[in-house]
Amino acid sequence: MSKQTHDRARTTEETLLSVRNLSTHYREGEDDVPVRAVDGVDLEIARGETYGLVGESGCGKSTLGLSLIRALPPQGEIIDGEIHLDGREIGQPARSAVKDVQWADISMIYQGAQNAFNPVKTVGEQIREPLRIHDVVPEGERAGHVEELLDKVNLQPDITDQYPHELSGGMKQRAAIAMAIACEPELLIADEPTTALDVIVQAEVLNMLQRLQEELNFGMLVISHNLAAIMKLSDRVGVMYGGELVETAPSEVLYDSPRHPYTARLLRSLIDPRRPPEQVETIEGTPPDLRDPPTGCRFADRCDLATEQCTAEAPSLEAMSERHEAACFHHDEVSEL
Ligand SMILES: Nc1ncnc2c1ncn2[C@@H]1O[C@H](COP(=O)(O)OP(=O)(O)OP(=O)(O)O)[C@@H](O)[C@H]1O
Ligand SMILES: [Mg+2]
Repeated sequence: MSKQTHDRARTTEETLLSVRNLSTHYREGEDDVPVRAVDGVDLEIARGETYGLVGESGCGKSTLGLSLIRALPPQGEIIDGEIHLDGREIGQPARSAVKDVQWADISMIYQGAQNAFNPVKTVGEQIREPLRIHDVVPEGERAGHVEELLDKVNLQPDITDQYPHELSGGMKQRAAIAMAIACEPELLIADEPTTALDVIVQAEVLNMLQRLQEELNFGMLVISHNLAAIMKLSDRVGVMYGGELVETAPSEVLYDSPRHPYTARLLRSLIDPRRPPEQVETIEGTPPDLRDPPTGCRFADRCDLATEQCTAEAPSLEAMSERHEAACFHHDEVSEL
């Protein structure tokens, strides 16, 4: 089935993850001005769908992922919004419930996962951990199950007794994937799964995620700077800017007809074989300070289309066409940029 047919088939499928008006702030001390890392985000992911999240560094992508799996650092707090997985509210459970959500319902390949392994425990011990927490396989069968998981990610069974430092970056990333799928989660979040890997290993990891997703039918949220990889892998893509979701559309639609100037700029900053090299541009300026974001459109000071209205008023996401939304007063002019 082609990706597009596949995608259309999914539109009738049930919603797996539903996020409404999610806001997550970081605050060092009581009197500190909070960093509004995620500010009023709505998001839906269907079962079996791959949703890609892109945007410049610091725009809140990881914070969104960490909020979903309830693994924010102590300074971070979900201050508003609702998160439903499979119809169940998982937004604000008591702290004791955090462990229930992780691994079994939602699991995450954390940004820099290659470096997140405990150096003094073997890889096998670490992959067994989520199986133990959720008691998904009886103790006597866990070692065999770990071997099956390693096989799924093309790692040899003898890896189990090795320590993380004995593995290459690509092998560690595959071990992190094995751990993330150990309890067959409904939603897998992969945060920058290919960063710090060489190009060939990057392609292997992306293909592996796609294969596992087809096999296990989890919903997947892939976060990356690498817009080209994201568009290849994802059914739909969301673009974040300054803590907000500014555009979302099926990948092909986003690529062919972006309706937010920031997306258009991001696309032009891509090194893409489909585009001549002279069309590659960088985006001038920097994203807003999330301690004190502008009142109007957060992209206005970097935008060629900005008018007075843009600095005075914040645009909200509006439907452009089926499954395509953008938050820009000048969405009709983006194609002329
Ligand atoms: N522990 C923290 N304490 C305070 N502020 C934080 C913390 N973690 C992140 N932030 C701030 O929250 C905002 C969003 O950060 P986040 O890591 O979610 O962005 P990102 O889009 O994942 O960036 P990158 O692409 O670099 O991974 C940034 O302004 C960042 O400085
Ligand atoms: Mg990040």
